[in-house]
Amino acid sequence: MSKPLGPIPHGFGERDGELAIDGHRASDLVTQAGRTPLFVYSRSLLSARMAALRAALPARIGVNYAIKANPHRDVITHIMPLADGFDIASAGELRLALSLGLEPERISFAGPGKRDEELEPAIAAGVTLNCESEGEAARALAIGQRIGATPRIAIRVNPDFELKGSGMKMGGGAKPFGVDAERVPDLARQILSSGAKWRGLHIFTGSQTLSANAIVEAQANILKLSAQLADQIGEPVPKLNMGGGFGIPYFPRDVPLDLEAVGSALHGLIADLPAPLAETDLCLELGRYLVGEAGVYVCRIVDRKVSHGVTYLVTDGGLHHQLAASGNFGTVVRRNYPVAIASKMGAAPEETVNVVGCLCTPLDRLADDAALPRAEVGDLVAVFCAGAYGASASPSAFLGHGPAAEVLV
Ligand SMILES: Cc1ncc(COP(=O)(O)O)c(C=O)c1O
Repeated sequence: MSKPLGPIPHGFGERDGELAIDGHRASDLVTQAGRTPLFVYSRSLLSARMAALRAALPARIGVNYAIKANPHRDVITHIMPLADGFDIASAGELRLALSLGLEPERISFAGPGKRDEELEPAIAAGVTLNCESEGEAARALAIGQRIGATPRIAIRVNPDFELKGSGMKMGGGAKPFGVDAERVPDLARQILSSGAKWRGLHIFTGSQTLSANAIVEAQANILKLSAQLADQIGEPVPKLNMGGGFGIPYFPRDVPLDLEAVGSALHGLIADLPAPLAETDLCLELGRYLVGEAGVYVCRIVDRKVSHGVTYLVTDGGLHHQLAASGNFGTVVRRNYPVAIASKMGAAPEETVNVVGCLCTPLDRLADDAALPRAEVGDLVAVFCAGAYGASASPSAFLGHGPAAEVLV
C-alpha cells in the first residue's frame, strides 16, 4: 500500500519529460549549479504570490516579508521592491538586510532574547525594535542614551487569544514572546515619556494556518485589542503589525488557504475600523506564504536497493537541508511532502518506494511508501514546498555533507 504525497504547488511545468522551473529543465539547472542537492527558487512564483496578495488585500494593509523564512540574498533582493517592510530576527539578519541596501525605516526586529550587541547596531541603524519585554525595552532605552540615538520602539503584545489551527502558536497564555496585554499600556507610557520614537504594536499569534476563519477571527481580535490598548495608552498607535500565520498546503488533503475569504473579511474589518486606529498604518507579516511554494529542492539518486522486499531510493539530499520534509521540524506524525522524480515528470507511477537521504539516521526520510515512476541511480528527485525554512532551518553541518547549492531563476 502506498501513502499519498502532498500536493505539488501550481506553477511548475514539464519540459522534455522533466520538471521545469520557470521554463528551465531541472537537469540544466543542476548542470549550471555544478552539483546536487540544489534549492531552486522561482522568480515568477514569488512575484505571482505577491500579486495575488495585493489583489486580495485592502490597499491600506501593507505586506512585510519575514526574512527568516528564506534569507537567500537573491530572494530578498527580488522581494525588496514588492514588499512594504521586512522583519528580521537577529543581528545577522540585520547585517544581511542592510548589506542588501534595505532602508532601515522598512525594517522591524522581533524575537525574544535580543542581546545588547544586537540592540545597539539596530538602534544605531534606526530600525524599529518590536520589544518583547520590559527588560528589553529598558536596555534599548539605555543603549539609545549611551550612543546618542533615539530608539524606534514598538511593543510586541502577547494577547490573551491564540491563532486557532496554527502549527506553531505564539500568543495566548504564558509565552516567551511579547509583553502580556494588560502590562502594555504602562510600558508604552514609559517608552513615550522616555523620548524614544513610539512605533506602535506588533501582535504575531502563530504560524502555518490553512483556515481562513481562524485567521480572520485572530485579525478581528487583534484590531479590537489594539484599539483598547490605544485608548488605555492615551496616544495614537502609529503602526500596527497584525502578524500573519498564512499557511501553505504541505501534506495530502491539506486545503489551500482561501485568500479571497481572508481578503474580503479584511475589507470589512477595515471599513469598520475602531476610531483609535483611524490613522494607524497596518501591515501583515508573512514568511512561508510568500516564498514556501516558490522553492523546490532537487537531489540525485545515488543508490537503489532492496531490503526485505522494500525498495529504497537513496539520494544525496536529506534532512540536513530538508528537516521539515523529513518530519522532524514541528510535526507530530510524519506525512509526505510533495515529492516527484524530477527526471520523469508526468510519467505514471510504477512502484512503491521509500525515498531517503544520505545521513545514517532512520530520521532521514524524504518520502515513505511513495507511488512513483521507476527511477534509477542518477535520476533527480524533487521535493516541493522547499522555499521556506529549508536551507536555513535545517542542520546543514550535521555529518559534514555541507550546505546545498541555491539558485533563484
Ligand atoms: C515574529 C514572527 N514573524 C514572522 C514569522 C513567519 O512565520 P511564517 O513563515 O509562518 O509566515 C514568524 C515565525 O515563526 C515569527 O515568529
